[in-house]
Amino acid sequence: MRKLVIAVDGYSSTGKSSISKIIAKKLNLVHLDTGSIYRAVTYYALKNCKNSEGKIDLDLLFKSLDKIEISFKEDKNELKLYLNGEEMSHKIRQIKVNNNVSFIAKQPEIRAFLLELQRNLAKNGGIIMDGRDIGAFVLPDADFKFFLTASVEERTKRRFQELKNSGIDTEEEKVRDNLLKRDKIDSERENSPLKQAEDAILIDNTFLTKEETIALILNYLKKT
Ligand code: C5P
Repeated sequence: MRKLVIAVDGYSSTGKSSISKIIAKKLNLVHLDTGSIYRAVTYYALKNCKNSEGKIDLDLLFKSLDKIEISFKEDKNELKLYLNGEEMSHKIRQIKVNNNVSFIAKQPEIRAFLLELQRNLAKNGGIIMDGRDIGAFVLPDADFKFFLTASVEERTKRRFQELKNSGIDTEEEKVRDNLLKRDKIDSERENSPLKQAEDAILIDNTFLTKEETIALILNYLKKT
C-alpha cells in the first residue's frame, strides 16, 4: 500500500511549515518545506551570480544550475536541506533572501530545475510537503490537500514576531510590504502560480491558533 502523501499550500506566514512539521511528527511522516529549496537557489544566486550593478544575473544563474547540488538529510521527521554539502537552515532565512526569492521562484527555468527533485522526494510516500503549488501542480495525486490563508494583518504580526524571536530587527511596515509583494508575485506568475487546488480543503486560520489549525487538519485526516 502506498504511504500517505499530504500537500499543504497557502500564503506566506500562514504557518504552513511549522504546522506541517508537527503533523509529520504526529503521523511519523517526513516533512519537506519546499520554500527552502527556492530559498537555497536564491542564496546561491546572491552569492555567485551578480552583475556589475550588484543585481542577480539570471543568465549566469541559468548557466550555473549544474553547479547547484541540493540534497537532504532526514533529522527527526524533517528533511534538512544542504546546498553543495552545506547545511542551510539559517542562512536561507536572511532578509536579502526574502526580498529576492519570489523573483527567482517565478522563473520557469528554476521551477523546471526543481520539479523533479520535489517529485522524487515524494515518490515513495510517507511525506507532508508544504509550499505554493504542491497540491495544484507538483503532487496532483496527493491523498490530502490543504490550503491555508489568513488576513494580511495577522500574517504580518506572526512574521514580525518570528523575525524578532530570531534576533532580526525590522519594522512591521516592511514585513507587511514584503508579504504583499511576495503574495502578488507568487499569485500572478505564469508558471504554476500560488493557487488553491480544486480538491484542496481551505482553512482560514486568522482566528485560530497553531494548535487549533493542527487539530482541524488531523480531524480531516481521521474522518476520511
Ligand atoms: O515558504 P516560504 O515563504 O519559505 O517560500 C519562499 C518563496 O519561495 C515563496 O514566496 C515563493 O516565491 C517560493 N515558493 C514557490 N513554490 C513553492 C514554495 C515556495 O514558488 N512550492
